[in-house]
Parts: sequence; structure tokens; C-alpha cells
Amino acid sequence: MQPLSVQGVEVPPFVYGTAWKELETARLTGLALEAGFRAIDTACQRKHYHEAGVGEALERAFSAGVLSRDDLFLQTKFTHQGGQDHRLPYDPQAPFATQVAQSFQRSLEQLRVSHLDSYVLHGPQSSRGIGAADREVWAAMESLHAEGRTRLLGVSNVSLAQLRELCALAEVQPAFVQNRCYARKGWDREVRALCRERGIVYQGFSLLTANREETAHPDLRAIAARMSLTPAQLVFRFARQVGMLPLTGTSSPEHMRLDLAALEAPPLSAADLARVEAISG
Ligand SMILES: NC(=O)c1ccc[n+]([C@@H]2O[C@H](COP(=O)([O-])OP(=O)(O)OC[C@H]3O[C@@H](n4cnc5c(N)ncnc54)[C@H](OP(=O)(O)O)[C@@H]3O)[C@@H](O)[C@H]2O)c1
Repeated sequence: MQPLSVQGVEVPPFVYGTAWKELETARLTGLALEAGFRAIDTACQRKHYHEAGVGEALERAFSAGVLSRDDLFLQTKFTHQGGQDHRLPYDPQAPFATQVAQSFQRSLEQLRVSHLDSYVLHGPQSSRGIGAADREVWAAMESLHAEGRTRLLGVSNVSLAQLRELCALAEVQPAFVQNRCYARKGWDREVRALCRERGIVYQGFSLLTANREETAHPDLRAIAARMSLTPAQLVFRFARQVGMLPLTGTSSPEHMRLDLAALEAPPLSAADLARVEAISG
């Protein structure tokens, strides 16, 4: 399937997510690259990600001559202290701008690369509003962008109000929003609508794990069967068709193959699209 064009940057249409893979991260990232994924999502947050394992897989692919840095889209994140455990990638007493600089540097070292394609604020410091800390973090991220050290910026785990607030204050607009995508909220309908209006690409994560009931719904299963897809494949095909950039967190080579193949399937009919969109809520 065609890459997306995001603020002039080519982005592969499916992202391999590396959360919760611990010491299997290098092996699984290697398998994902072999399967054909060309976009990788990670975070400098040892609590949930093993970013150095991603770097190990990249190094292996680069030194085998299988891939070059330019073939890949690499995304990682800055995580506020509230989302970290004791393995912090920065001095928590330092100003936020310094924390971003330290975390970014740690990411480059762990990933063994000299620049990133997308750098994401993992989430605002509080679930309400964009606070002073977030503003300072975003400004530091804008500096990294200005220096060409990351090509794009993004934000994750935001409400509609927070996204509006961030867009209003940002000099460099977010290129991405990365949110857990619940079918019961119309697949994050309101945030997706604002993204569309602003030219922001919506990255949907936990499309399967957040929507187990919906994925098992008889109507969704019937549409999938008619299209010769598995229900999981139908969810990813649907997500892409409504403009999302989907993430998958699979650890299975067979599911990696199926997930990528889903994007090659024909589009859902207008009626099927409407049914899946309204499957719950
Ligand atoms: N920004 C944030 O705060 C945040 C939070 C969470 C996640 N994320 C990102 O999003 C990524 C994906 O998240 P996630 O793991 O929750 O997503 P997910 O893809 O919804 O969940 C992965 C689960 O789906 C199963 N699966 C995948 N493809 C399948 C298929 N074709 N058929 C059947 N089952 C399938 C996997 O099982 P198998 O392993 O058996 O295939 C695994 O149990 C993470 O790795 C991370 O990069 C970001």
C-alpha cells in the first residue's frame, strides 16, 4: 500500500509497535523488519519499552546490508516522570528542556541512529489541559525539529481539548496524534475529526486489545468473512481506510504477515464501512 505523505515526509502505512516485548524486543523487531514493516514505534521509557533492543535489531539489519537508515521510519517518545519507573533517561531535577535533550540523546544512542523521523510527547503531564511543563517540553521538541534532529513531531494520549490547546500554542504543529482507539468512542471520532481538519495524521493503537468485544461482534465477523479477512485484518483495513495510521503490537510472525496483508485488501464498501464505524458508540 502507498506510503502517506505527512508534512512532506513519506511515512509507511503500517507501524510496528515495540511495547511490552522486553528482552524479546530485538528478535521481534528483526522479524517485523523481515516481514516488511518499515515504520517502528518505541519510547525512551524502560518501564514499557526496551528501546536498546530496537537499536540492536536496526544495527543487525544495517550491518547485514538488508536495510539502510533511509528505508525506515523511526519514532520514539519523551515520557514525563509520571510515566517512568526508576530507570529514568534524564535528571528529574533538571529543567524540562534539559530532560528532553537528555532523553532524546539517550534515544539516539539506544537506537544507534543520528536522527529520528518522529518525536512524540508521550502524553501531557496531567489528563487535563496542557500545563507549563508540557509547553516547555513542546518548545524543546520544536528546537530539535528546527535543528533537523527529528523530521516530525507528535503527541500521544490527548483529549480533544488538549489537542486544541496544543495546536493553538504550538509553533510547529503536531504531525501525529497517537491515541488508544476505542470503538465505543466511535473509534476516537472527535479527535480524528480535529486531526483531519488540521492535517494531522491519527495513529491508532490497541486497535485489537481495546476492542475485543467489537472484534468478536457477529456483524464485524460477517463482513470480515465476506472479504476473506480475519476480524483483526478487517479492523486494520478499516482503520487505514478512514485515514488512520494503524499500529500493531503482534509478536507472531504469522500475524505480522496477516496484518501487513490486510492493507492490500480491497476497500470496504460504503455500507460495511459505516457498519464498522458504528459497531459500538
Ligand atoms: N502512546 C502510548 O501510550 C502507547 C500505549 C500502548 C501502546 N502503544 C504502541 O502501540 C503498539 C501496539 O499496541 P498494542 O500491542 O496494544 O496493539 P494491538 O495490536 O491491539 O495488540 C496486540 C495484540 O493483538 C494481537 N494481534 C495482532 N495482530 C493479530 C492478528 N492478525 N490476529 C490476531 N491477533 C493479533 C497480538 O497477539 P499476537 O502477539 O499473538 O499476534 C497481541 O495480543 C505498542 O507496541 C506501542 O508501540 C503506545
